[in-house]
Order: sequence, then structure tokens, then C-alpha cells
Amino acid sequence: MADEPLLLQAAARARQHSHSPYSGFAVGAALLDEQGRLHTGANIENAAYPEGLCAEAVALAHLVMAGGRQVRAVAVVADSARPVTPCGGCRQKLREFAAADAVVLSGAVAEGGPVLRGRFTLAGLLPESFGPAHLAAAD
Ligand code: THU
Repeated sequence: MADEPLLLQAAARARQHSHSPYSGFAVGAALLDEQGRLHTGANIENAAYPEGLCAEAVALAHLVMAGGRQVRAVAVVADSARPVTPCGGCRQKLREFAAADAVVLSGAVAEGGPVLRGRFTLAGLLPESFGPAHLAAAD
């Protein structure tokens, strides 16, 4: 597992690229891949509201397009008193590339850099999830 502060810092830096004029809620995400590389994203909203992208989805697209195939760890950073976790859709997107025990860190922006507010596992956030094995078992 990469250095947790490094992962949170990468997410906080990515957050600065957020395009979130509609919600005013800027989010950054960082993913660690199986080669030890970091891939980042920020939420990219759209005037056609449902077309907006979550930070995690943008980061995942970067990971896949860079040749990554495994999400080993996730960090999400926002300016929120409550720990921000990936939305339901992003949990499912991440689940395609992550093991059940992949760590999901939640951080909040602060003066001296992001602070850890919560630590979860993907399976804890998305229990009894649907995945590739279900398709393989279909008849
Ligand atoms: N958002 C993310 O990018 N990631 C999360 O984990 C939670 C929510 C974005 C979507 C939208 O642009 C804004 O935050 C408010 O929901």
C-alpha cells in the first residue's frame, strides 16, 4: 500500500482541477495501480447536469488508459466535515478493477494539506456486489 499521505496529497492536488460550478463541491481522487503508479481525477460537471463526471470515474479512466488493470487503493478528498466516500455508481466502477479488500481513504482539505477522515474497504462500501463472476456463472 502506497504511503497514505502521498495518496491523499495526490487527490488534493487533483481536486484543484475540479470543474464544479453547479454544486460548488470540488472533489479530487487518486488511485494506486498494481505497478505502484498514481492516477488522479477531479469531478467535471456539465450544464446538462446528469452528464457530470465524478472524480473517481475520471481517475479510473486515467488508470485504464495508462495500462493499469488493478486498483490497489483509493483516496477521495473534498471540503466536508463528513467523510466523503465514492458514490454508488463509482463504487461499482471501482469494483471492476479492485479487490474486495482494496482500501478507500477519505480525506478533508485543511490548511497544511489533506487530513484523513475515514478508512474503508471497497467490500465494506459495496457488500454482496455484482461482478464478472456473476456473468461467468450465467447459463
Ligand atoms: N462527487 C465526486 O466527484 N465524488 C464523490 O465521491 C462524491 C460526489 C461529485 C459529483 C458532483 O460533481 C459533486 O461531487 C456533488 O455531488
